[in-house]
Amino acid sequence: MTLTIQTSAIQYKDKVIQVLDQQRLPHDEVWVISTTPEEMVEIICSLKVRGAPLIGMAAILSLAQLAENGADMSEIRLAAQKLKQARPTAVNLAVYIDRVIHAAAQADDYRAEMIKAVQAIFDEDVQLCARVSEAGARLIQEGETLLTYCNTGSLATAGNGTALGVIKRAYELDKAIRVIACETRPVLQGGRLTTWELMKAQIPHTLICDNMVGHLMSLGKIDRVLVGADRIAANGDVANKIGTYSLAVLAQFHGIPFHVVAPYTTIDLHCPSGDCIVIEERPAQEVRGGWSPAETPVYNPAFDVTPARLVTSYILDSGVVKRVGP
Ligand code: MRU
Repeated sequence: MTLTIQTSAIQYKDKVIQVLDQQRLPHDEVWVISTTPEEMVEIICSLKVRGAPLIGMAAILSLAQLAENGADMSEIRLAAQKLKQARPTAVNLAVYIDRVIHAAAQADDYRAEMIKAVQAIFDEDVQLCARVSEAGARLIQEGETLLTYCNTGSLATAGNGTALGVIKRAYELDKAIRVIACETRPVLQGGRLTTWELMKAQIPHTLICDNMVGHLMSLGKIDRVLVGADRIAANGDVANKIGTYSLAVLAQFHGIPFHVVAPYTTIDLHCPSGDCIVIEERPAQEVRGGWSPAETPVYNPAFDVTPARLVTSYILDSGVVKRVGP
């Protein structure tokens, strides 16, 4: 059995992994090659590949490549440990690695089982994206303006995306929607990547800076907020891109529905509440950009936690789950 993978942002063929470098988008469409797990760790840490599901899939592809190149199980386990530590917040990374290692550990032909498990995870993610998109698109009303954050589209998943998948599906269903894409400081996943996907899909949209959201909400210009998730705790608290919590507070203040769109693979039942979620801190230079003094002290948490009480509903592959309680 040979493995061939083709998504918008990752390709695998003849033991070669190619990743669309998301740091170079939207201006340059450059594919980088990963030949070892160490190179893949660098690709993940530097956000060339990103988004909760896709970093997990990039990591297991690197393990499959190692297996296809003849590595034994002890080498594969060692690489799995390194890959798991690349980014701590998104649950998919550790879950997908564990799934693949577990499949291999059960089998005589561990290479074949790993390849099967990797293929199944990619195929499943495409299906999960389609299901969340369908479930969410049914909620969207004709003529609505939808605000989204970070990038949750085909650059973050194997399929058409989660929150952005809902938006694309609603547009496919001919609902006359408009999208407000938030820039998403400091790395600008909204300004660079979501706009790129919206342009390609020809969906009417407007880009704003993150600090413009309250103003637009106060003017009644936003009907709904749709965001993705990196980890959803058992009590419904949601870790997502830094700034998501502020959006949720603003949405509640203005009485605007706030939806978290995610497949079941993002739910972590081992994590009782948001307090248990490790928040990744990233390099200072991302915040300083090219304009602040080079030595200015910086704090750069990559994610925040939105408490469940601020979530109107979770749009999951199993359907829409409304939050109950105060
Ligand atoms: O740091 P990133 O770009 O990997 O963060 C991505 C997000 O926060 C997304 O909203 C989340 O992973 C969901 S993607 C379907």
